[in-house]
Amino acid sequence: MNPALRKPLIAGNWKMYKTVSEAVNTARELVACAASAPVEVMIAPPFTALASVAAVVRGTPVALAAQNLHWKNEGAYTGEISPVMLTDVGCQYVIIGHSERRQFFGETDDTVNARIQAALTHKLIPILCVGETEAQRESHETFSVLDKQMVKGLEGVPFAADSHLVVAYEPVWAIGTGKTATTDQIQEVHAFLRGVIDKRLDNPLAKSVRILYGGSVKPENASEIMNMPDVDGALVGGASLSAATFDRIIHF
Ligand code: PGA
Repeated sequence: MNPALRKPLIAGNWKMYKTVSEAVNTARELVACAASAPVEVMIAPPFTALASVAAVVRGTPVALAAQNLHWKNEGAYTGEISPVMLTDVGCQYVIIGHSERRQFFGETDDTVNARIQAALTHKLIPILCVGETEAQRESHETFSVLDKQMVKGLEGVPFAADSHLVVAYEPVWAIGTGKTATTDQIQEVHAFLRGVIDKRLDNPLAKSVRILYGGSVKPENASEIMNMPDVDGALVGGASLSAATFDRIIHF
């Protein structure tokens, strides 16, 4: 972690959990504990709860994210949500290319790329998720898979002087499985991703990109993960659903 260059970010991904009232209650509890956290705190509720949670977190240290977006501003795209709608509802961030979207909903590096461009155009900060499967790690493809996801995801993306980007390394085999990557595995990949970012993006954007780790982060392992030199934060799924548990992570 290098707080001099990058304020660490701990982000909660609520996936397809919580009704509106459950989301509002958890957001209220989090607002009460986030002010004293040494990191930036963000939550990504399901689309149905964004407007209500936005009203709770507005003007507080808790930032709001969506879990996906479409790349068009509007149109005949049944079931999709546009960047215009997300900024209108008060989102600052958007998660893009989560492995569950790649695995179950046909997300590809090309659609990830289109979504990143749309997010930046609308001043939403994209959280680009990358990660290898267990089979890819076992066949020593981890770095080539990550390199491809990064290069294709960012190819031709017109970053502006005031653009921001977050990258989340989430090994697919560690998501929701209770299996956390070792700190050595995490540091090795984050250092690699930092190199890719430095090579691909201009300074000072490259230096400002935060690289989060995600995959079974919990109160018991948050501190050792956050203390690795190239880790700038965490993307937390299951352990972000309870404000009490998430509080222990943001105060690692
Ligand atoms: P997990 O999920 O913390 O439940 O493993 C992380 C994620 O999918 O973002």
